[in-house]
Amino acid sequence: MNEAEIISQSLEAVAERAGDPAPAVFARLFAEFPQAEPRFARDVNGSVRGEMLAMVLNCLMDPGGPYQLHLVRAERLNHDGFGTPSQEFDRFFGVVHETCRDLAGPDWTAEYDTAWRAQIDRVLQGSQ
Ligand code: HEM
Repeated sequence: MNEAEIISQSLEAVAERAGDPAPAVFARLFAEFPQAEPRFARDVNGSVRGEMLAMVLNCLMDPGGPYQLHLVRAERLNHDGFGTPSQEFDRFFGVVHETCRDLAGPDWTAEYDTAWRAQIDRVLQGSQ
């Protein structure tokens, strides 16, 4: 299995145990960066949050892809422009990883962890 397949499998484990990870992802993000929560005031139905999470997961499937790297580079700049500094932006990938790991509980494996770390490193290193 390649890394993308391993990550898909890990997401299935999360979904089986906990359903949609989005609420827990954003709860963790706002616990770490309370200053970020008011920035989502206009996102009343959660669609922006959903899009952010979907983009991160999509990037982890093909973290060296030119489309993904270009997109992440562009979004990092956009986000900096509307008040989210780059360190916070980059940290979101780790927040998603840690939330999924905790939600999957005993179903999480060392193999999942290695694949997540490798893909996150690739996307962050390739998009600076
Ligand atoms: C701590 C990290 C982050 C914070 C606090 C944050 C915050 C936000 C906020 C406040 C918006 C709404 C902007 C508006 O008012 O229209 C937004 C939109 C969005 N964010 Fe994030 N973001 C973070 C990380 C990321 C990451 C890592 C990605 C993807 C790689 C991402 C992708 C998006 C996308 C696709 C949108 C939709 C609108 C757009 O394209 O600008 N965000 N984000």
